[in-house]
Amino acid sequence: MIFHRICCLHRKVILMRTIDWKEESKSVVLVDQTLLPKEYRIIECKTLSSLCEAINSLRIRGAPALGAAGGFGITLAALRSEARDLETMVKDLEVAGKVLKSIRPTAVNLGWGVDRVLRAISDAFDIQGIQDIAFQEAMNIAEEDVATNKIIGEYGAKLLKEGDTVLTHCNAGRLSCVDWGTALGVVRSAIAEGKKIKVIACETRPLNQGSRITTWELMQDKIPVTLIADSMAGWAMHQGLVDSVLVGADRITQDVIFNKIGTYTHSILAKEHEIPFYVAAPISTFDFNGWEGSVKIEMRSPEELRFFGSEQCAPIDVEVYNPAFDATPMENVTAIITEKGVFYPPFLLDEVLV
Ligand code: MRU
Repeated sequence: MIFHRICCLHRKVILMRTIDWKEESKSVVLVDQTLLPKEYRIIECKTLSSLCEAINSLRIRGAPALGAAGGFGITLAALRSEARDLETMVKDLEVAGKVLKSIRPTAVNLGWGVDRVLRAISDAFDIQGIQDIAFQEAMNIAEEDVATNKIIGEYGAKLLKEGDTVLTHCNAGRLSCVDWGTALGVVRSAIAEGKKIKVIACETRPLNQGSRITTWELMQDKIPVTLIADSMAGWAMHQGLVDSVLVGADRITQDVIFNKIGTYTHSILAKEHEIPFYVAAPISTFDFNGWEGSVKIEMRSPEELRFFGSEQCAPIDVEVYNPAFDATPMENVTAIITEKGVFYPPFLLDEVLV
């Protein structure tokens, strides 16, 4: 992995896409999100293993961004493979796909991106063909992500009123996608339409994607944002500070929305306070055959809770429960905003497929 560029944070930085392709070195470039908000650093992954490390350590994260990473991962594997014949290369890439998918099993987009590129290469006649098709399909995924998020934004913006304050959790913004964002894309689109919208960002312990990433990216765009601890969400709602809750999703099955741990709690709080609870996600996040029970929730290291960054904040040997995601039942969801429109209960997934 190569450190590509370091920018200072006391100024507004020139933002690149969260993940992209660098043709000169035939490598994946991405914003290292573990360093935000202190540092905006772009890293270069030349090999599948360096990209896997970046995914595992959450340098790149967020469901749609992981979809692009999956596609680029197969491209890297194809370009660096030592296979000399088509059959061996296809086998190599299937193994690479399994490795990639296993790193973060809950976010469906990672596997979706991998499978999409693997499907595309089945049209290839030779090794060069595989490499070209893999690259092209990975680029298509990245391009489509930006276009899709803009459409989601337009649909979602209609649900927000002038002067609304939206509570969000984790980061479903530009940095969780290739660009624009899903939930925060809705906010961006509403603001682009001329509405004044404010955001309340929950910090999202243990890895603080809300306080580190959401606040930073909104402040870069001068979008008003107030940070709260996760435990303050209920009281903020009770105080009338929240007009709607707007989150992204990592996987939408027939019965639940998987999203960052804490989302379920917000959905209950929103229901109790009669506040709309919106989910913004592309169709690629839908797992049309899945149910809550069929999905593996990623469990992360106990160290993420025993430490706050590098500071120990709990007894070193305390027992820890650290699921990365939770599942919000559909009955708590007011609407799902997709690039195919806004869906309301009873959320018949067949409607989404049409
Ligand atoms: O563990 P992370 O940071 O990858 O979790 C990300 C989330 O839960 C996001 O809310 C989700 O991916 C939606 S991103 C548009």
